[in-house]
Amino acid sequence: MLNIVIFGPPGSGKGTQSKKVVEAYGLEHISTGEMLRSEMKNGTALGVIAKKHIDKGHLVPDHVIVGMLTRKLKTCRGTKGIILDGFPRTVNQAEALDQLLAQYGDQVDILLNLEVEDEELIKRLLKRGETSGRTDDNGNTIAERILVYKQVTTPVIDFYKGKGVYRSVKGTGSVDEIFARMQTAIDAVLHERMTKVK
Ligand code: AP5
Ligand code: MG
Repeated sequence: MLNIVIFGPPGSGKGTQSKKVVEAYGLEHISTGEMLRSEMKNGTALGVIAKKHIDKGHLVPDHVIVGMLTRKLKTCRGTKGIILDGFPRTVNQAEALDQLLAQYGDQVDILLNLEVEDEELIKRLLKRGETSGRTDDNGNTIAERILVYKQVTTPVIDFYKGKGVYRSVKGTGSVDEIFARMQTAIDAVLHERMTKVK
């Protein structure tokens, strides 16, 4: 399997780029944000818990997220691979992911970090908020999401740097330009894998 993590602050383009990666490489897209929004829409117990946190721009507790992801990962066995979008968001989640993948003899192959400045993030998310219907796309909540990203989520970067799978990707420019940068990084991993097999 090819296991990719797409990483970056709110509005950095994780969802947009994931769609293109899925098309190009035939991977399964796992977005914890989308899974939570679906639970909220269906009014499930998990959705009720998630809403309390999401509406404030805070993270949903690790045990809730890890439980949800564990169930999802099981359904992805035997596929070409996965792209994780919005997970892991804490070092605890990164450690849990490592253990889950290790059970199958797998690991994260590459983490692509989309780098975008705050002003651009805010501009993108306020614009999306005009039509998205997302309860967290408003000025105050956007500011809180960016703060939480910086304080709680960025330590995940060092975790993966330590494993040698971290890649920084400039997240500004056109969607296609950014995707081309992502492809270069992903293809390098695939190439390395092929040369190892030979
Ligand atoms: P989540 O759904 O993951 O949201 P997020 O990280 O805040 O990111 P977004 O989905 O808003 O942005 P994105 O990076 O996907 O960018 P997009 O492609 O949409 O999480 C939501 C909440 O759920 C969290 O706050 C938390 O409460 C909870 N949650 C989720 N996962 C969790 C976890 N693991 N642990 C705990 N809690 C969790 O692009 C943004 C906009 O920009 C779009 O309008 C797009 O069209 C536009 N755009 C994209 N690319 C470009 C470009 N190149 N130029 C101009 N505009 C662009
Ligand atoms: Mg998203």
